[in-house]
Amino acid sequence: MCGIVGYVGQEQAAPILLEGLSKLEYRGYDSAGVAVYADQKGTLEVHKAKGRLQVLSDLLQGGASVHGCVGIGHTRWATHGAPSDVNSHPQVSRSGRIAVVHNGIIENYAELKAFLMEQGVPFTSETDTEVVAQLIEHFYDGDILQAVGRVLRRIEGAYALGILCADAPDQIIAVRKDSPLILGYGKDCSFLASDVTAIIRHTRDVVYMDDGEVAVLRRDGIQCYNHLMQPIEKEISHVDWEIDAAEKGGYEHFMFKEIMEQPEALRRCIFPRIRDGEVYLEDFALSEEYIRNIEKIYIVACGSSYHVGMVGKYNLERLTRKPVEVALASEFRYMDPIVSADTLVIVISQSGETLDTMAALREAKRLGATILSIVNVVGSSIARESDMVLYTWAGPEIAVATTKAYSTQMAVMDLLALYFARVLGTVAEEEYQAAIRELLLLPAKMETILADKDDIQYYASQYFNHNSVFFIGRNVDYAMGLEGSLKLKEISYIHSEAYASGELKHGTISLIESGTLVVALASYQKLFEKSMNNVVEVKSRGADVLALTTESRREEMGKVANAVIAIPDTHDLLLPSLGVVPLQLFAYYVALMRGCDIDKPRNLAKSVTVE
Ligand code: M6R
Repeated sequence: MCGIVGYVGQEQAAPILLEGLSKLEYRGYDSAGVAVYADQKGTLEVHKAKGRLQVLSDLLQGGASVHGCVGIGHTRWATHGAPSDVNSHPQVSRSGRIAVVHNGIIENYAELKAFLMEQGVPFTSETDTEVVAQLIEHFYDGDILQAVGRVLRRIEGAYALGILCADAPDQIIAVRKDSPLILGYGKDCSFLASDVTAIIRHTRDVVYMDDGEVAVLRRDGIQCYNHLMQPIEKEISHVDWEIDAAEKGGYEHFMFKEIMEQPEALRRCIFPRIRDGEVYLEDFALSEEYIRNIEKIYIVACGSSYHVGMVGKYNLERLTRKPVEVALASEFRYMDPIVSADTLVIVISQSGETLDTMAALREAKRLGATILSIVNVVGSSIARESDMVLYTWAGPEIAVATTKAYSTQMAVMDLLALYFARVLGTVAEEEYQAAIRELLLLPAKMETILADKDDIQYYASQYFNHNSVFFIGRNVDYAMGLEGSLKLKEISYIHSEAYASGELKHGTISLIESGTLVVALASYQKLFEKSMNNVVEVKSRGADVLALTTESRREEMGKVANAVIAIPDTHDLLLPSLGVVPLQLFAYYVALMRGCDIDKPRNLAKSVTVE
């Protein structure tokens, strides 16, 4: 999704903007641009280029050829208008004296554009963002802040904006509504960014802007305003993760680094929450009485976070006997959900900015539900709008394909299920203690899987030429298959489907023919025999079966499958946490062998802030 960076200070702005934009590349983009106040000429100098940031950087000699100490930069992910130089941001007003970078969508742009065109304003791009630049100029009479305020009263939709005005060369104006924007406080300089990774090299002191807020950034400080344009004070937060966490650190890809970081991420996520054999959830405001009275739990999320919800449903229902429904966030608000004050809505999101998830959260809140979110990015919009947050503490996740965030989300779901079950008295002491013991062993068991990664690489080398793959499984194995399938298709572009094994015979099995690759997931002990039957079923139609099961079942499975990947035995609750790791590695190695752009797969963005 689009990325924004801004800088006001004493150093040359363009190199800082380009470096900041490079840290936002992971979000996904198709073009890039910068606008810098050219102090010698009293004008705005704008440079834009379609394609990789490197194209722009080469054009500007890494920024060295652009002078000036105040500027804004942008990586664009096209929504209105195809990727092109002219549609790239910054977009400028007709006189060239206002420049705007934008993340989000201006929903009523067509109407505003028509209005401006009637006034004789010419447009050069197809973007909704140009409307903002032109409208600011339309209202501008010498007071840029006032002009921005008037525009904000007219535009609808989601937007994070960075605005430069040639007549106010010492400042940037920032605006936020439904799209993330962070302000950074440096020594004799200020920053603006879509996320912390873009500015962490320069400052760790940040302010998370809230919806409707406006900020004026100057070299000597930042003034924030509320939606009524009244000055406000904001609390400065200190970012405490290390810069290295957002660097590749010798790995070829962020995705691989993040796969390998999972045991450590799990230790950070789980260990502080278990003391003396009990689960403790920090900042947890749900009373025991509330938990007992919960009538229904909804889990709402998108993509991989939704898959965590699928596993979470099985585990929560089994341990708590409370009914749990999992909903795709993009469907939730349009399905007239049955939600009341006794409904707990668990919202799962790595970024905390996914627009569909945020919209579902707001809808659930409007209907009176209590919102508990499981989020990775501290201070993100979803975290701030929830009644309670359980952070996953996975650290920054840069690769578009989620891995360590998925694993830590799952761990938080497990902790939550155990916590609820303890309060409700629906779990036997022995099972509770066994699950806790296994949770504490999870990182070490995961390390043994990662140590055998060469085996997975070998299987990838056997199968990377396939054009279609089926993942099959039952119960939590089915949910795990959905994730394995998504991982494979998003980074290797191989068509793949995940099926509940029992459902195959109702149609899909007709697609199985000689040589079809079926990844059969059979880690769930209670249904192992049935899963074996399904392996036999597809094998007898000619499928090549790569099976995944536990060590204790390896031999048995080896009698029917063509190849077997075995994970350490563990408590049922935790099988998907271990089982997903070989699937992540498989997708990674297959994509590598197919020469794909692993960290930035085509058409995808890390944080999806459009509907
Ligand atoms: O940031 P979120 O967890 O809300 O993102 C949800 C999905 O966009 C995300 O999980 C997506 O499916 C991943 N790219 C999958 O690897």
